[in-house]
Amino acid sequence: MQAMKSLFVCFFLFSFLSISTTTALDTITPSRSMRDGETLVSAGGSFQLGFFSPGKSKGRYLGIWYYVDIETVVWVANRETPLGDSSGVLKVTEQGVLVLLNSTNMIVWSSNSSTTAGNPVSQLMDSGNLVVKDGNDTNPDNFLWQSFDYPCDTLLPEMKLGWDLVTGLDRYFFSWKTTDDPAPGEFSVRMDRRGLPQAVIMKGAKITARIGPWNGLSFTGYPYPPQTRENQVGYEFVFHKDEVYYEYRLLDTSIFFRYILNPSGIVQGLTWVHRTHSWELSYTFQADWCENYAWCGAYTSCNINVYPICACLKGFVPKSPKDWNSGHWSDGCVRKIPLACSSGDGFLKYTGFKLPDTSSSWYDKSKGLKECDGLCLNNCSCTAYANLDIREGGTGCLLWFGNLTDIRQFPSGVGQDLYVRVAASELDHIAEKSKFNEKKLPGILISSAVFLVGTLLIGLILYIRNKKLRSQGVRSIDCTKDYLGEDREDMELPPLFDLSTVAKATDDFSSSNKLGEGGFGPVYKGTLIGGKEIAVKRLSKNSGQGMTEFKNEVILIARLQHRNLVKLLGCCVQEEEKILIYEFMPNKSLDFFIFDQEGQKLLHWPTCFHIIGGIARGLLYLHQDSRLRIIHRDLKASNILLDNDMNPKISDFGLAKTFGSDQSRGNTKRVVGTYGYMSPEYAVDGIFSMKSDVFSFGVILLEMLSRQKNRGFSHPDHHLNLLGHAWILWIEDKPLELIDKTLRNSCTISEVLRCLHVALLCVQRVPEDRPSMSSVVLMLSSDVSLPPPKQPGFYTERSVPESPLSTRRCSANTSITIIEAR
Ligand SMILES: *[C@@H]1O[C@H](CO)[C@@H](O)[C@H](O)[C@H]1NC(C)=O
Ligand SMILES: *[C@@H]1O[C@H](CO)[C@@H](O)[C@H](O)[C@H]1NC(C)=O
Ligand SMILES: *[C@@H]1O[C@H](CO)[C@@H](O)[C@H](O)[C@H]1NC(C)=O
Ligand SMILES: *[C@@H]1O[C@H](CO)[C@@H](O)[C@H](O)[C@H]1NC(C)=O
Ligand SMILES: *[C@@H]1O[C@H](CO)[C@@H](O)[C@H](O)[C@H]1NC(C)=O
Repeated sequence: MQAMKSLFVCFFLFSFLSISTTTALDTITPSRSMRDGETLVSAGGSFQLGFFSPGKSKGRYLGIWYYVDIETVVWVANRETPLGDSSGVLKVTEQGVLVLLNSTNMIVWSSNSSTTAGNPVSQLMDSGNLVVKDGNDTNPDNFLWQSFDYPCDTLLPEMKLGWDLVTGLDRYFFSWKTTDDPAPGEFSVRMDRRGLPQAVIMKGAKITARIGPWNGLSFTGYPYPPQTRENQVGYEFVFHKDEVYYEYRLLDTSIFFRYILNPSGIVQGLTWVHRTHSWELSYTFQADWCENYAWCGAYTSCNINVYPICACLKGFVPKSPKDWNSGHWSDGCVRKIPLACSSGDGFLKYTGFKLPDTSSSWYDKSKGLKECDGLCLNNCSCTAYANLDIREGGTGCLLWFGNLTDIRQFPSGVGQDLYVRVAASELDHIAEKSKFNEKKLPGILISSAVFLVGTLLIGLILYIRNKKLRSQGVRSIDCTKDYLGEDREDMELPPLFDLSTVAKATDDFSSSNKLGEGGFGPVYKGTLIGGKEIAVKRLSKNSGQGMTEFKNEVILIARLQHRNLVKLLGCCVQEEEKILIYEFMPNKSLDFFIFDQEGQKLLHWPTCFHIIGGIARGLLYLHQDSRLRIIHRDLKASNILLDNDMNPKISDFGLAKTFGSDQSRGNTKRVVGTYGYMSPEYAVDGIFSMKSDVFSFGVILLEMLSRQKNRGFSHPDHHLNLLGHAWILWIEDKPLELIDKTLRNSCTISEVLRCLHVALLCVQRVPEDRPSMSSVVLMLSSDVSLPPPKQPGFYTERSVPESPLSTRRCSANTSITIIEAR
């Protein structure tokens, strides 16, 4: 009772103190100014204006911050002129000008209103906009001055990025110099008005990345909506003779979302998560090489999912082949055949593009695509054209004059069409190639006829045999047709291999060719007749991988193409065999290099770091960038294969699940995966999401750093598993003790520590706390600051290997298939 009483007194005192130190105002008028220590609060309570000192800085700044997170400052008035002490006063003059005065009553900063008011009042709107208006004006939107016209580094909802063409006001964003110094840094984001207006990110006077022009639906450089907030953000691009700007609104006003340009020049979209009280990265611009402005030079396209990432457009060749072949692409490509101009050039159509730099473009909103073609042909310096508005029914003509630069190729399904001008003889050349095929037509006809008869015959035989098989309860399927039917998109279908071919290649599945034993059956090395090496996964008849998993793997992997995913060459379904044929990976799998003593000697830190980045990008592709959203569900060291150059390739998609783009988690009654890599919510409740893959990724990282298996880890001092061990060392501030000795010699301490930090973030217990893969990729490749990790999930299970899995097995009808780590 006594304790309660004193607690109450304490609480009372505390609240009394906090009220007495900060007075909250709702307006500033000529007769009521605001001093350091006081705050101006917005009507709905979302934002506050007051004085603050960022980070380690001692200077006092006037700024606006979120009520939910006072550390997050969205606007600063005196960016370049901090006050030396806490004697600052914000006043509004009788004329309606905001002035910030220091102790000697000198003006340190002032607003810039040109018109005067009879009854000036300054208020903070609930959007975070600091305004000055005439209190006697009945129109609530008539502002004499507003902070939204003078942005800093944050684009809030309803803020405009772009121009008022009548007054000449240009609203653009400057990054902070450092996190401790709000003065304008090197980077800015602005609307470039040369040609068709486009949003660009600049370092000084140089463009570093191009968000691109608006195409009616999105910026051409960013055809994806933000990862998690697609239904909650509405975009608008206004473009007419008086104004050109971009803005967005939140459809759900209870959420907080902001774009920032950070001091390293990266644009990020961040969402406030109330439950964890932190900002989650929803969106990052400049996430890969192709985002660098004109990375591949003129007349090229950049495609991050193939290697080399730069390629000349058709009809163009590298300008300096030597540089080009050694990976220096910035010189770009030049025409093989010069344009003839008058005597009829033509156009080659490309799809899935980010449109080239529009600073030397011309546009006409009223012209259609057909007219556009003609307009371009009629002007010798016109190099390409495109549709201005790709919405359904949208028209408009966009023409380019001069070099085509900064084009990127997106995975199919996004991006837009571009028509590139080439000489008629070049077109002839390309047409000839197809004619060449036509000439063979009679031959093709004959062989087709033979083929047709053959197919019919084979079909008949198969049909009869199939019937026989079916009567024995075995169903035969065709990889390439049966269940890919629903997707008629022009993907490459995996070819069907004949069982005899596969048997011959593997020397009749001889044990000397066996590479290893997977969860679902053995894997063999094979050599096809031409000498090509393959890996053959033969699913054992009584394995857990049934027809469902087999189909799943074939369908998924046939549609995925990324340099960090293993490539399926074909499959074979014959008699009772189910066989998958992959490209052969000479360097086996990652587990050999991290757990085997011989392997460990070969894997030095730079390669290790390269592998980590590759796995992260492969996973990001699965989660976000491919047209399907895919959860792998069985990510582990033995499923990471390595090619000749030690590039990692994620393999084994038997358990992978696809998601709709609006779905972010699923639930299953059949928990399958590998002990030691499964996240708690998946193993216990069967809930899987992209965050359960993130967990497995974190485990792999910790295993790579410590070169110990999470499963089977033991330590003389405690009963924790590897995750627990890493956590203890982290909180005891001895993180380097986790790093394996063999790795320490070759490593860069800062990189290793960063990887460890990221790993701990990935294995946090609560899925929402774990970063998304796009954050992980960013965290690994830049020096963005990282939040402190919280306690990992499943970190004690070594001592209690049976629970909680087994208790769950009894209490709920969740069946669990644990695959032993190989
Ligand atoms: C107040 O501001 C003026 C002008 O910026 C400056 O010259 C003066 O030194 C400042 N006074 C103090 C006490 O900081
Ligand atoms: C204020 O306006 C003047 C003239 O209109 C202009 O030269 C000056 O740059 C403006 N200052 C700011 C901070 O916008
Ligand atoms: C503004 O309104 C107040 C009363 O609401 C009045 O006293 C004042 O004269 C008005 N000022 C002007 C400039 O109209
Ligand atoms: C071609 O277009 C350019 C750029 O718009 C223009 O300056 C030039 O006059 C045009 N030439 C012809 C022949 O129309
Ligand atoms: C276009 O190409 C020419 C010749 O290669 C080069 O001098 C010029 O800088 C390029 N312009 C742009 C905008 O890339």
